[in-house]
Amino acid sequence: MKLKVAVIGAGPSGITALKNLVDQGIEAIAFDRNQNVGGNWIYTEEESHSSVFETTHIISSKTLSQYEDFTFDEFEDNVPDYPSHDTLRRYFQAYARKFNLYPSIRFGTMVKHCQYVNESSWEVTTEKDGIVSTENFTHLVVANGHHWKPRYPHYPGEFSGEFLHSHQFKKASPFEGKRVLVIGGGNSACDVAVETSRVSAKTSISWRRGYWIAPKFFFGKPSDVIAEGTKWLPVKVRSFFNEILLKSYWGDYKKYGLRPITLPFGSTHPTINDELMHKIRHGKVQPRMDIKRYEGKKVVFEDGKEEEYDTIIACTGYWLSHPFFDKEFIDYSKGPVPLYLKMFHPKITNLYFIGMFQPLGCIWPGAELQSKLMVRELTGEWKRPKDIEKLCEMEVKKPHYQQIDTPRHTITVDYHLFIKDLKKHLPKNYVSKNPRIVKELTSS
Ligand SMILES: Cc1cc2nc3c(=O)[nH]c(=O)nc-3n(C[C@H](O)[C@H](O)[C@H](O)COP(=O)(O)OP(=O)(O)OC[C@H]3O[C@@H](n4cnc5c(N)ncnc54)[C@H](O)[C@@H]3O)c2cc1C
Ligand SMILES: NC(=O)c1ccc[n+]([C@@H]2O[C@H](COP(=O)([O-])OP(=O)(O)OC[C@H]3O[C@@H](n4cnc5c(N)ncnc54)[C@H](OP(=O)(O)O)[C@@H]3O)[C@@H](O)[C@H]2O)c1
Repeated sequence: MKLKVAVIGAGPSGITALKNLVDQGIEAIAFDRNQNVGGNWIYTEEESHSSVFETTHIISSKTLSQYEDFTFDEFEDNVPDYPSHDTLRRYFQAYARKFNLYPSIRFGTMVKHCQYVNESSWEVTTEKDGIVSTENFTHLVVANGHHWKPRYPHYPGEFSGEFLHSHQFKKASPFEGKRVLVIGGGNSACDVAVETSRVSAKTSISWRRGYWIAPKFFFGKPSDVIAEGTKWLPVKVRSFFNEILLKSYWGDYKKYGLRPITLPFGSTHPTINDELMHKIRHGKVQPRMDIKRYEGKKVVFEDGKEEEYDTIIACTGYWLSHPFFDKEFIDYSKGPVPLYLKMFHPKITNLYFIGMFQPLGCIWPGAELQSKLMVRELTGEWKRPKDIEKLCEMEVKKPHYQQIDTPRHTITVDYHLFIKDLKKHLPKNYVSKNPRIVKELTSS
């Protein structure tokens, strides 16, 4: 059978899927609603697919946030430890240029619907400039990202001020002089609170539980590089060491006015932030409890405190969303997500998910390995296990981390264990740095 593969998305995950398909000479087309490569990392002031803001820098350090086929050193000199969104955009676009991917990407093209026909056929309906067309592919690769569809919180009463989600937050300047309440304890909430506190009349942050906050550096090195030194230890032991380290680093949360942490490290997706704790101790950000109800501009908190705000920024996460599938066919929005290695469907053999996992670390190195494994299956070098349905169930029942049951925790993996699991299925020489098409053209 001649393969023809459709890839949804040309973000960090989609481009590595495409690269590895093209490497093996497999016909593949990526569709992206954007006008260029980069996905979430294409910052615009207008609302778009991207959820990054003016000042976003990654939270995973460059050492653990690079493709093995194209490292930061091969990209340019002096990339900082935690690159900005713009450096990352340029990195992803350089990757696409290096591996000659642009001719295989259809930009400005929205995938509207994917219809499974049989194990060797998909009908993919797209829309570009108002023109709808349908094309057949043998395989479908889903790399549409999972941080773009805002999930809103709901509380009794009505808030009469301005209300937005972190997806719509682009920069701090519009909040100058305003009274801002940020909801959430994840990376968006802590970043947004720090940014607005630079210009706002007041910034508060409402947490519904206590969160472990990890600084970006320990002993002068990026925290994830330090943590890598203990990757051979069981997850529980690593978590225990992290707790000791973080407790001695910050001291007692009571001194910050933050709610105490009641859960082990890793029970929630970790928050990495150097500045929040300083902003709190400088009086620029005020910690608040969970919200009980709204009364016009007044917010009543669960401890009885009442305060007025002009703006609420809900940094309450994102839905896992695949709007191009019929809901009764695939709907992972509320979990569970029973996929082997977070990529293989238990029943549908010509469907792959790339980058749809939440590591305690960076996404695209894992997406790169997933892509290599996908291509090994397509070329017949690897066969999926016969008991795949059981393995899918096992991943749901026995995740790397025992996490709390909130919507953001359905696809968590431990970065190091996940990379190790994927590498078990790859040959030793899986790294491929040479652009296949360019090489062939120049040698002919
Ligand atoms: C503020 C912020 C900071 C982050 N920081 C980090 C970090 O430090 N490290 C990390 O690893 N991750 C981070 N993430 C997570 C982020 O999801 C990943 O970095 C990365 O962008 C995932 O790549 P992706 O290709 O899977 O998804 P995306 O980057 O979201 O790309 C998906 C692509 O698919 C396209 N697309 C989607 N639907 C369709 C459709 N129907 N038709 C056509 N095209 C479509 C989009 O246009 C987009 O180009 C961060 C997320 C946010 C919001
Ligand atoms: N600088 C960066 O690199 C950076 C910046 C921002 C985001 N990111 C990444 O982007 C992804 C998304 O992060 P995110 O912070 O936007 O979302 P997130 O990780 O899903 O965090 C959402 C937060 O909101 C809370 N929450 C959800 N619903 C709520 C409700 N109804 N009421 C009160 N609180 C509620 C969650 O609480 P629970 O703990 O109860 O779930 C959690 O604290 C993550 O992978 C993150 O690492 C990275």
